[in-house]
Amino acid sequence: MSTLPHPLELIDRERILQLLTEHLSDAWASFDRPRPQEPQLAGELLQRLTEGLPSAPGDPEASLADIARVLDASVSPSRPLYSAYIGSTGLEAGVLAGALANAYDVNLAAAAGAAELLENQAIRWVGEFVGYPVADGAFTSGGMTSNLTALTAAREQALPGSRYEGISGRAAAVYCSEESHHSVARAVEVIGLGSRSLRRIPTDEYRSMRIDALTDALAADRRTGVVPVAVVATAGTTLTGAIDPLAKIADVCSEYGVWMHVDGAYGGPAAGVPRLAPRFTGIDRADSLTIDAHKWLGVQKSCSVVMLSRPGPLERAFAHDERYMLHAGVAANGVDRTLEYSRPVRSLKLWLAFRIYGAEMMRRWIDATAQHAQTLAAALVANPRFELLHEPALSVVCFRHLSDGDLDEHNLQLARAVCDDGRVYLAPAQVDGITCLRVCFMNFRTGADHVRELLDVIEELAETV
Ligand SMILES: Cc1ncc(COP(=O)(O)O)c(C=O)c1O
Repeated sequence: MSTLPHPLELIDRERILQLLTEHLSDAWASFDRPRPQEPQLAGELLQRLTEGLPSAPGDPEASLADIARVLDASVSPSRPLYSAYIGSTGLEAGVLAGALANAYDVNLAAAAGAAELLENQAIRWVGEFVGYPVADGAFTSGGMTSNLTALTAAREQALPGSRYEGISGRAAAVYCSEESHHSVARAVEVIGLGSRSLRRIPTDEYRSMRIDALTDALAADRRTGVVPVAVVATAGTTLTGAIDPLAKIADVCSEYGVWMHVDGAYGGPAAGVPRLAPRFTGIDRADSLTIDAHKWLGVQKSCSVVMLSRPGPLERAFAHDERYMLHAGVAANGVDRTLEYSRPVRSLKLWLAFRIYGAEMMRRWIDATAQHAQTLAAALVANPRFELLHEPALSVVCFRHLSDGDLDEHNLQLARAVCDDGRVYLAPAQVDGITCLRVCFMNFRTGADHVRELLDVIEELAETV
């Protein structure tokens, strides 16, 4: 009988590492400046992507080269003129940490040794960065999971035992602004309340949650015996960057005894920038806070953190007693405080970014991207061919190009033309029923000159649609 080859026999470590560094270095160099267009995949490689499961060992070098070409022809938020949705920077520090994290493949589901110390330190650093008194928390796969984690804890606090009994027909509600991210609705569905129990509170002229409407909704629910589970304030909405009035919401939450969660997945890091911090006053009073490090803290997906100002609620929501692993009392394991089971050390990317660049630099980078939004808004206001649809509260700007005919259709086509062109990447959106162009500055590689370039490209293409 032939012996099974060891994995090492199929890969030349030194050679492949050398090639990997070359591919990485090419990728990083390609992020330094915008490209004239997005490359397309060539015929042969396109053909290989349709092939079935390889049953025999293949050539590692050729396979690595294929990966590099596929990724190079994919949309990457690391490019300086990627300004769609809410991207990141893809900091080099995150690549290094990600590679090491994959190499060691530590699992934080169970007691994992020193990596837990590092993860806890990273959670404390994020709290310190944004001024949040963190007492408990976890790194998760994204804002969706962080919001879901917080709302699961809030549900167990408002309806003790609901994790075992379900909500058993009890009427309960969650409150958020009408501009909040859909992950809040999804979380409310997943925790069994149903999205009909979501009270979408109207917003004011700054697109922030109206306190009078929030109080009315809470009072109406209290009168009819509906249990308020949580108020979700958004610190930086996805559509326009609006920030809900956090201090006032904290006052209402203490008056009504309701859990306050802040969804700062996008905007939260700006609370750590002295110029922007006053807009986040009250963030420290939230029971829980979501921050996505894979957005404005510049590191790769997936890396989000959910923080709580008190220890206890996460354990009450998630601790369990299955015998295939030891639990609190016998041994403390991550799974007793988290939604996920197997969990990589996502925090490494952010930890290394803080170590290499320092908090001060990160604050300045975030500030600079928010300044780009102001620069773009000013240029749009000065240009009669454009209409600015809101004052940018953070780094998102929604606007439309003006022309004769159907403006919605024109701007939709313009957004498509911009993405097809490939020099700039942006997304269309809808603000108050108006179809518009939406630009979001998140990338620390974007410079002031790129803002001008972005507008020039849009103007140039507007002539062609
Ligand atoms: C405000 C807000 N909350 C939550 C999310 C969901 O985050 P993720 O995509 O990391 O799950 C987003 C994503 O853009 C967001 O902007």
